[in-house]
Amino acid sequence: MCGIVGYVGFRDCTDVLMDALSKLEYRGYDSAGIAVFENDEIKVAKSKGRLADLAEKMKKEGKPAGHSGIGHTRWATHGEPSDINSHPHSGERVTIVHNGIIENYKALKEFLVKEGCCFKSDTDTEVVAQLLDYYYDGDPIATISCVTKELEGSYALGVIFADFPDTVFAIRRESPLIVGIGDKESFIASDVTAILRYTKNYYLLEHDEIAVLSRYSTSIYDLHYHKLNKELKTADWDISAAEKGGYEHFMLKEIFEQPEAVKTTITPRITDGLPDLRECGITMEKLASFKNIFVVACGTAMHAGVVGRYVIEKLARIPVNVEIASEFRYREPIVSEGDLVIIISQSGETADSLAALRLAKSLGAETLAIVNAKGSSIAREADMLIYTHAGPEIAVASTKAYMVQIAVMYLFAFELALAKGMTDEAECRRLTGLLLKTPDIIQDVLKNKKETQYIASGLISADSLLYIGRGLDYALSMEGSLKLKEISYIHSESYAAGELKHGTISLISDGTPVIAVATQSNLFDKTISNIKEVKARGAKVILVCRDSYVPDKDVADYKFGLPDDIEDLLMPMAAVVPLQLIAYYTSVLRGNDVDKPRNLAKSVTVE
Ligand code: G6P
Repeated sequence: MCGIVGYVGFRDCTDVLMDALSKLEYRGYDSAGIAVFENDEIKVAKSKGRLADLAEKMKKEGKPAGHSGIGHTRWATHGEPSDINSHPHSGERVTIVHNGIIENYKALKEFLVKEGCCFKSDTDTEVVAQLLDYYYDGDPIATISCVTKELEGSYALGVIFADFPDTVFAIRRESPLIVGIGDKESFIASDVTAILRYTKNYYLLEHDEIAVLSRYSTSIYDLHYHKLNKELKTADWDISAAEKGGYEHFMLKEIFEQPEAVKTTITPRITDGLPDLRECGITMEKLASFKNIFVVACGTAMHAGVVGRYVIEKLARIPVNVEIASEFRYREPIVSEGDLVIIISQSGETADSLAALRLAKSLGAETLAIVNAKGSSIAREADMLIYTHAGPEIAVASTKAYMVQIAVMYLFAFELALAKGMTDEAECRRLTGLLLKTPDIIQDVLKNKKETQYIASGLISADSLLYIGRGLDYALSMEGSLKLKEISYIHSESYAAGELKHGTISLISDGTPVIAVATQSNLFDKTISNIKEVKARGAKVILVCRDSYVPDKDVADYKFGLPDDIEDLLMPMAAVVPLQLIAYYTSVLRGNDVDKPRNLAKSVTVE
């Protein structure tokens, strides 16, 4: 939620900030703003709406010219999206941008109002700006340090002081922030992708560390003004990973990157044909010891956990609970020593998932993070860590991150089954071999994107639709349905096909679209019967099934065929592709902003 950037160097600061913000718009796009030192004076430009609206405004009104400043792209929490509530926010001498939430902002605001401060906006951020101003005594670090002691909540702050031209200060607690180091220039950013065009070298700012970026040097201090020696990291993503590369949207590019992402994630974790997760801190002895598994996550990552549950329970015969993180953390879960809690997260910063991880640790469970963003909070705090190597995912609707998350769940399940003695090496090798073939299979399925375009054209005027399936197909339906509603804004629900007749079937009327997934042989006949039940009531059925099955007219109106030579267990990796593409094209055909759907943000750092 919200992206912040800062720059000090020799380039046109406004251009750098705008470019860097364009890489962070996935974090929120309710408003955008920048503050730049122009001839030693702070100039602010901000606007409700997208970054493009701010660019347009600056075209008309002129853009700040200088070589240092801060910028922000907002996902509104406190105060509606408006020009006034847009960041940066200023006191008399201090201007800031903020990502996070100040939980005690009301009490602080009351105090400041009593002290005579006037507020312009409804935001929690302005309270921080005013508080900095209130305490400012000419020593920025001492002031920041003193103010942050009063703040409760999460923040990554970019701060400039009117009397310290060409210097940017930054501090974080909970919300992510990196400090980029270039040649005679430095940056702050919520995410390293924002600065890849300029440098790959960066420091990960830890909680309560203060960065000072000036023309001549960049230093990092603790709250007591001790200078810190930190390890300079190098990003292994390059700028092309964060650009569209000829695709119309990031989402489409990311769907097409899936074969490569799976290959890069899986291949290095296989030794002699068997899963090998030792570099992730996972040993066979440890795996053998777990009694229960909990998978805790949000959104799409949680859906990857649902696929994982079916696979782990089938192969390793260990009970798996899959939980939404925001529920798990508040329901006093019965988790203890000997249990494993797996947290799945693309960003590694989702507030509820991070809190769930901390709770699980405090209850004595071992924790395993499956995370895409390197160095993120969840990655750093978990006992064991499997990075998914999907590269940056920019589109708000997650696709390739989901694909690699399920690929990791398979690999993990295979090794767990072996460790638990529920399978032998030969079978484990066979399954691992099949997993290694999935990138080619996904590639094949992608060739049929035209068909999904056709299917989407029949959905664009629907008010509502259903996704149905059984077993792994039901797990997959959940993700298909979420994808569609996220970006097409058409209401949809996923339902276990066998449960429909207990209520939901009453929603079916003439022409109601139903996307039925039927890839599991042991459940196939049962699913087909359920499909016939909706078809008989007027549903327009799109069936996703194996190529060799030819549906009768009383089963489906349209079939999307998947390669026949995939084992049932691995079918989700192929079957999710048409569901992603159907959602994508439906959104495109409805004229929506596919990569930045309304009301959403990719990285949800508030609970
Ligand atoms: C947001 C995003 C989803 C994502 C979820 C969890 O809601 O829009 O795409 O699945 O957060 O995010 P995470 O980074 O933890 O996977």
